[in-house]
Amino acid sequence: MQEANLSVGHVAKRAGVKVSTLHFYEDKGLIKSWRNTGNQRRYKPEVLRRVSVIKAAQKMGVSLEEIKQAFANLPNNRTPTKEDWDKLASQWRESLNERINYMQRLRDLLSGCIGCGCLSLNSCPIYNPEDELANKGSGPVILDKK
Ligand code: FES
Repeated sequence: MQEANLSVGHVAKRAGVKVSTLHFYEDKGLIKSWRNTGNQRRYKPEVLRRVSVIKAAQKMGVSLEEIKQAFANLPNNRTPTKEDWDKLASQWRESLNERINYMQRLRDLLSGCIGCGCLSLNSCPIYNPEDELANKGSGPVILDKK
């Protein structure tokens, strides 16, 4: 049976993050704790899920602010249910899909011309002769194309 109120050390170890990371997440309003009678931080077990989601989202390049906005849809006064997480997932799905698609395009185009204007690859004159793509916008216009 899992302990209902977890110490910061327990959460850090189980989640695979430093204690300072938990303090940082808490300062950013992503997770919450309370103090016991000994003035020590305590967490509900659900914090482990939140920290895991934060870490996974950060690996995908999602900013802490975006994560915070998504978490704003979760209840703070009770442990989020599957339905709460389903709701968050459906609201976050489009944004995450855009990121996934962009990462896939980066993976697929990284060894070829991305339309950035450098003309440094042999294929650039074929795909972007004379940097014709410059009039379509700034940055890697082929990579950024939706
Ligand atoms: S890779 Fe830069 S213009 Fe082709």
